[in-house]
Parts: sequence; structure tokens; C-alpha cells
Amino acid sequence: MNRLKVLVLCLLTILMITLLVACNTQNQTPAPQTQPSTATQTKNQNLEAIYVGEQTCQYCHQKSKYDTTMHFQSFKPLISYKLDKTYGQVTVYDGVANNAKSTTVDLKKALGVEMDSYIVAQIPKEAGFTKQFYRVGKLVKNPDGTYKIENPGLVKGTQNWSAGDYSCAQCHSPGMGGAGAPDFTVTCEACHGPGGAHVAATTNEQRIATMALPDSKTCLKCHNSDPKKDSTTGTTGAIITTNHYGTRDWTFSKHNTTGEINGCLTCHNPHGTNVSGQGLRKDNPNDICATCHVGKNYEVNTIMWENKSDPNGHITPDHSFNAIPESATQINPTTKNVEITNPAVLDTIKKVLPNLFK
Ligand code: HEC
Ligand code: HEC
Ligand code: HEC
Ligand code: HEC
Ligand code: HEC
Ligand code: HEC
Repeated sequence: MNRLKVLVLCLLTILMITLLVACNTQNQTPAPQTQPSTATQTKNQNLEAIYVGEQTCQYCHQKSKYDTTMHFQSFKPLISYKLDKTYGQVTVYDGVANNAKSTTVDLKKALGVEMDSYIVAQIPKEAGFTKQFYRVGKLVKNPDGTYKIENPGLVKGTQNWSAGDYSCAQCHSPGMGGAGAPDFTVTCEACHGPGGAHVAATTNEQRIATMALPDSKTCLKCHNSDPKKDSTTGTTGAIITTNHYGTRDWTFSKHNTTGEINGCLTCHNPHGTNVSGQGLRKDNPNDICATCHVGKNYEVNTIMWENKSDPNGHITPDHSFNAIPESATQINPTTKNVEITNPAVLDTIKKVLPNLFK
């Protein structure tokens, strides 16, 4: 064993020296007169576009609490849920093309479950569907803790029929399909970009140059929750706050407009959770506010008011920090959407998002 170690060390030393010599020689060589060939350029470009997967990143960067984040947990294999019975094959219709094309899918081969809810499967090419990935069933928790699969398969002529494709992937599983990443969750490379060139880098300078540090703009690619026009009221123009993406009305907050805080990252930790499982920098959210608003004793849960009546059950806290207070809104009982009704607040919105009012 010891001999082996010595041998390995010797080999490593020789390798290091060779590398150092090579580098030094390179430094002495005059700069190339010609541009690198197109072949090399293509090769490098390809490398920059290659996703390596979070296991590769974690090989060098141990993020000890990363596994507790919702980003990491947003997509799980179906076998991690205890089902109430055996579900076999299901029939799936191509809801995107809205024609009667159908195929069968073995649930055992499903890719996994999005948000503890939707079972996502890849449809075999031969089936000739418009898209590659579809939601083929919905998990629902039974009172005894097991799960049933509601609407296994997609049934033509039901609401289920049109809800089928996994358009959700662009935010929920950005690596799926085109991007080619091996992960189905919101993963390292969803924020940091593909790591191919970074992993192939041989010096720390190259490593830093090949890997950008994301900022709030990256978060907003998926978390943009600006108000929108209520599609159920059509042209009458009710402006509603959007629940799905988690940062309701952030655009209008002084935190955003003054530019005096580091966007989302002042409060949120992108790599881990606090004791309550929230992706926040401190265990008690009030302590984050107190670092700047000394003596204000802001009550986070009141300021960040929740919209409890979203038609799709998405409940997210308001991020406008009083620019759109709860009192400026009113629940539309027919649509259960939260409409913004205060004229002064609507005016503020109009200045920033004029297209909404056309
Ligand atoms: C072979 C080991 C290795 C792998 C694999 C690796 N990294 Fe790195 N990475 C490094 C080293 C070493 C540095 C530090 C360079 C320094 O600070 O001098 C670094 C730096 C970084 C930085 C900081 C860059 C900066 O601008 O300061 C980020 C972000 C990063 N890596 C993300 C990733 C991601 C995401 C992946 C997976 C796609 C990954 N790394 C895979 C070794 C690795
Ligand atoms: C939600 C987006 C997001 C995800 C997912 C993410 N990061 Fe980061 N990462 C950031 C941001 C933003 C920074 C800038 C530093 C900061 O604000 O904490 C950063 C910084 C880093 C750094 C620089 C040093 C440090 O730790 O602050 C490394 C290394 C890194 N990330 C690696 C990873 C790896 C490895 C993964 C996957 C296990 C990962 N990141 C997942 C957003 C993300
Ligand atoms: C590729 C899209 C994408 C990007 C980029 C992204 N997120 Fe997310 N984020 C999601 C999705 C999808 C969820 C829902 C997943 C879940 O809750 O399981 C989520 C959930 C969250 C949550 C709620 C989870 C919790 O802790 O309860 C927080 C907080 C969050 N993201 C913050 C951020 C921040 C901060 C950034 C930027 C550094 C960021 N996200 C970047 C897609 C994204
Ligand atoms: C001033 C601090 C602060 C800033 C800035 C901030 N957040 Fe938050 N965010 C919070 C707090 C506190 C909560 C938890 C509120 C609660 O649980 O009631 C939260 C909740 C969330 C949630 C929902 C978490 C869940 O459990 O469902 C998401 C998603 C989120 N923030 C994303 C973002 C993104 C993206 C940005 C940047 C555009 C951002 N936040 C900026 C403080 C902040
Ligand atoms: C990094 C510093 C910083 C942190 C942390 C911070 N804020 Fe702020 N906040 C500001 C700045 C700067 C402004 C805009 C100037 C002002 O009104 O004081 C602001 C404005 C506000 C306003 C609007 C005040 C008004 O008069 O319109 C509210 C409400 C608010 N913050 C609440 C919070 C809450 C709640 C938290 C914690 C979840 C928090 N802030 C965390 C810096 C911060
Ligand atoms: C533009 C990006 C985006 C798209 C597209 C998207 N989502 Fe989301 N979704 C998010 C983000 C970001 C969150 C996290 C919000 C939070 O935690 O507050 C989320 C949260 C969720 C939640 C949990 C909501 C809650 O409040 O508990 C479910 C369920 C969900 N999405 C399902 C879907 C489905 C199904 C689709 C496709 C039909 C989809 N999403 C499309 C970004 C997106």
C-alpha cells in the first residue's frame, strides 16, 4: 500500500512539474498570429452550453443544506410516494395538438412528480405527439397518508385533456428537453448556467471566468409576479395581483426602486434554508428587516400579506412592502382573484406597466 502511495505521489509530482513547465513555455511563446480555427471555437462554444448536472457540481462544492431547499425538492421520483394501490398503464391523449392521437404510458417509467402534485412522463417519439413531456396524472394525498393518482392518463373531452403538456418545465424543470441538463429540479445550473466550460477549466482564474454569480435578475426569470389583466374579465380590464411565482408586486417595492438593497439576495439564501425551512438568511425574518430598519419593528407577516383566495390554490406572500397594501385590493367573488382597486395604486402601476392598461 505504502509503495503504491509513494508511486502515485511521484507520478503526481512529475505531472505537476510537466504542467508547470508547459505553462511557463507557453508564457514565453509569442501570441498566436492567427485567430483560433473555427473548429476550436465551435468546440469551446459547445463546452459552454453543456450541462453537467448538480452531482458533478457537488463533487467539488459541498452545499451542506442545499438538499433542504424547495428548489432541490421540487421534483421527486414517483416511488418516493406511498400509493394506495398499483397503477399500471394509462392512456394519454395529445392535448397540445387537440386531436385524438393517443398512446399508453407505463407509470413505472414516469420521470417523476412535480411539486408533490403532477406526474410527468416522456412520450415516446413513435407516438407522434406535439411535445415531448406531459403531465399524465395528479397525486392527491389520502387522509391515511397514502396517495391516490387522480385522473390517471389524459381523457379526451375533459378539462384534463387540455391541461396535459408540461409547459411548466421552463421554470420547474429547466433542464428538461432542449437545455439537456441531467436534473429535473431547479438546480445549480438553473441559476448558474451550464457548467461544461467551468468543469473543464484547469486554473482557478479560468474557473472564475467561466462561472458567473447570479443576481436578482436570474431569480426574476422564473419569479416575476407583476400584476396582470384578469383573463376571466377580459377587456373590462380588472388588474389582479399574480400569485403563482412567489414575489407578488415586487417591482413596485421601494426595495426594488431605490436599488439600495441587493435584490432578492439581501433576504434570501439561494443555497439553504433556515430552521423553519424557509430559504431566508436568518431564522427569524424580523431580524433581517431590523438590520436596516432599526427601531421600526416591522411585522413581516402583516406587511407581506398572503392572498388566500387564489383560484388555483397558490398562496404567496406580497413582496411590494406596502406599495400595494392589502387595503388597496378587493377579492372578486366570482373569479376569486384579488383585484387592485385603489386608484392611486393603479396609477403607480400604470406608470411602470403602461401596456397593461391598453
Ligand atoms: C473540478 C471541481 C469543480 C467542479 C466539478 C465545479 N467547480 Fe465550481 N469552482 C471550482 C473551484 C476550484 C472554484 C474556485 C476558484 C477560486 O475561487 O479561486 C470554483 C468556483 C465556482 C464559483 C465561483 C465563481 C466566481 O465568480 O467567484 C461558482 C459560482 C461555481 N464554482 C459553481 C459551480 C457549479 C454550478 C458547478 C457545476 C455546474 C461547479 N462549480 C463545478 C471547482 C469546481
Ligand atoms: C436559486 C439560484 C441558485 C442555485 C439553485 C444555486 N446557486 Fe450558487 N449562487 C447563487 C447566487 C445568487 C450566488 C451569489 C452569492 C450569494 O448571494 O449567496 C451563488 C454563489 C455560489 C458560489 C460562490 C460562493 C458562495 O458559496 O457564495 C458557488 C461556489 C455556488 N454558488 C455553487 C452552487 C452549487 C454547487 C449549486 C448546486 C448545488 C448552486 N450554487 C445552486 C444562486 C444559486
Ligand atoms: C429556473 C427557475 C427558477 C429560478 C432561476 C429561481 N427559482 Fe426560486 N423557485 C422556482 C420554482 C419552480 C419554485 C417552486 C419549487 C418549490 O417550491 O418546490 C421556486 C421556489 C422558490 C422559493 C420558495 C421555496 C421555499 O423556500 O419555500 C424561494 C424562496 C425561491 N424560489 C427563491 C429564489 C431566489 C432567491 C432565486 C434567485 C437567486 C430563485 N428562486 C431562482 C424557480 C426558480
Ligand atoms: C426584504 C426581504 C425580502 C426580499 C428583498 C425578497 N424577499 Fe422573498 N420573502 C421574504 C420573506 C420574509 C418571505 C417569507 C414570508 C412568509 O413566509 O410569510 C419571503 C417569501 C418568498 C417566497 C415564497 C416562499 C414560500 O414559502 O412559499 C418566494 C418564492 C420568494 N420570497 C422569492 C423572492 C424573490 C425571487 C425575490 C427577489 C425578486 C425576493 N423574494 C425578495 C423576504 C424577502
Ligand atoms: C438592506 C437593507 C434593508 C433590509 C434588510 C430591509 N429593508 Fe425595507 N427598505 C430599505 C430601503 C432602503 C427602503 C426605501 C427607503 C425607505 O423607505 O426607508 C425600504 C423600504 C421599506 C418599506 C416601505 C416604507 C415606506 O415608507 O414606503 C417597507 C414597508 C419595508 N422596507 C419593509 C421591510 C421589511 C418587512 C423587511 C424585512 C423582511 C425589510 N424592509 C428589510 C432597506 C431594507
Ligand atoms: C414562469 C415560471 C413558471 C411556470 C411557467 C410555472 N410555474 Fe409553477 N411556480 C413557479 C414558481 C417560481 C413557484 C414558487 C412560488 C412560491 O413558492 O411561492 C411555483 C409554484 C408552483 C406550485 C406551488 C404553489 C403554491 O403556492 O403552493 C405549483 C403546484 C406549481 N407551481 C405548478 C405549476 C404547473 C402545473 C405549471 C404548468 C402548468 C407551472 N407551475 C408553471 C414558476 C412557474
